[in-house]
Amino acid sequence: MKDLFEKLKENRGPLGKYSKEAHGYFTFPKLEGDISNKMIFRGKERLVWSLNNYLGLANHPEVRKADSEGATKFGFGLPMGARMMSGNSNYHEQLESELSSFVSKEDTILLNFGYQGMSSAIDALVDRNDVIVYDSESHACILDGLRLHIGKRFVYPHNNIENLEKQLQRATKLVEQTGGAILVLTEGVFGMSGDQGKLKEIVELKKKYTFRLFVDDAHGIGTMGKTGAGTGEEQGVQDGIDIYFGTFAKSFALIGGFISSDEQVIDYLRYNMRSQIFAKSVPMPLVIGALKRLELIRNHPEYREKLWEITNALQSGLKEAGFEIGNTNSPVTPVYLNGTIPEATNMVLDLRENFDIFCSMVTYPVVPKGIIILRLIPSAVHTLENVKYTIESFSKIYSKLKSGQYQSDKVVAG
Ligand SMILES: Cc1ncc(COP(=O)(O)O)c(C=O)c1O
Repeated sequence: MKDLFEKLKENRGPLGKYSKEAHGYFTFPKLEGDISNKMIFRGKERLVWSLNNYLGLANHPEVRKADSEGATKFGFGLPMGARMMSGNSNYHEQLESELSSFVSKEDTILLNFGYQGMSSAIDALVDRNDVIVYDSESHACILDGLRLHIGKRFVYPHNNIENLEKQLQRATKLVEQTGGAILVLTEGVFGMSGDQGKLKEIVELKKKYTFRLFVDDAHGIGTMGKTGAGTGEEQGVQDGIDIYFGTFAKSFALIGGFISSDEQVIDYLRYNMRSQIFAKSVPMPLVIGALKRLELIRNHPEYREKLWEITNALQSGLKEAGFEIGNTNSPVTPVYLNGTIPEATNMVLDLRENFDIFCSMVTYPVVPKGIIILRLIPSAVHTLENVKYTIESFSKIYSKLKSGQYQSDKVVAG
């Protein structure tokens, strides 16, 4: 028998084992000052490429005003209690109605946290007789939803539609015996690689198979599609998405999220989703803040146009400079390099300290050993000058990486 705390001491977890060396610098860094293209890291201004502030709304004067007015007028305590019991308001219902019309669905349920909401919705929607078919690169909130599912689940390799069809055949055979139904889960934009889920092809499969499609569009809402209504709009298949999830944590620059679908499905979720029934409602200032952000997203396409101008310049510039950025077709911009973890940390240290560029680094165990991803998130508050400087700096660090300079313990100044 073991003492639980002793066990935790011995095994810190796949990321936690690096906490001693990484904490405060690579993990849990503190970015200070107003949220913008440049922020303060360890007392110095750096060019920041790691925030999902896609449309630049985080520090928009109208947003800041609405946030503070919401807090002054209502406080963060209101409404008290869960939505179902004592936590409802006209503002919550107004936001749900406006989100429904934005994403062209009949109804919407607000979520106090996107992550929990997504997992909890999966839990509520399916039972032991139902089968879930899902993309192998699905976000952790989908995977956690799967852990709550006591029926069968079939995974298909990322965006592999041929294999998805095979899984649908397996699932169909199974539900014919159990009397259950099939739910397909994928993402609009995959947050690590930046490629879109093949929603159009998946919707096409509905002609041959009976299933419902649930899309996590955390990175697509506000950024994709003509009006910013997301990846379904982008691919012309919004109607084919049966259940649509969006977060407020990215282009809305807030916290919380929502799920939109047919009225009867949302009504079902309102009465069956445990994360909403047994948890406090979204605070009023957040609802007021979300309404303002939605208004700005709908009325200012120029923010999205600017985001895409920066995205296109960054991605084409990186490609021209010889960088591998994979299959991204969204603003998410991964730069794939080869190297060890010490090389990756030395390189990022160099980028931050000598080039004043702050971006996120992804290494093993999140990606296979030997691969380093520098993940850039462009936004409407970046400039073309920022893009140019970043590509030049990346070219310099890339040469150093190739010539083995980051293998040494001491980083050479840029
Ligand atoms: C694809 C995806 N789904 C869901 C979430 C969770 O959303 P939230 O931050 O609103 O909890 C995230 C991250 O924020 C995400 O990237």
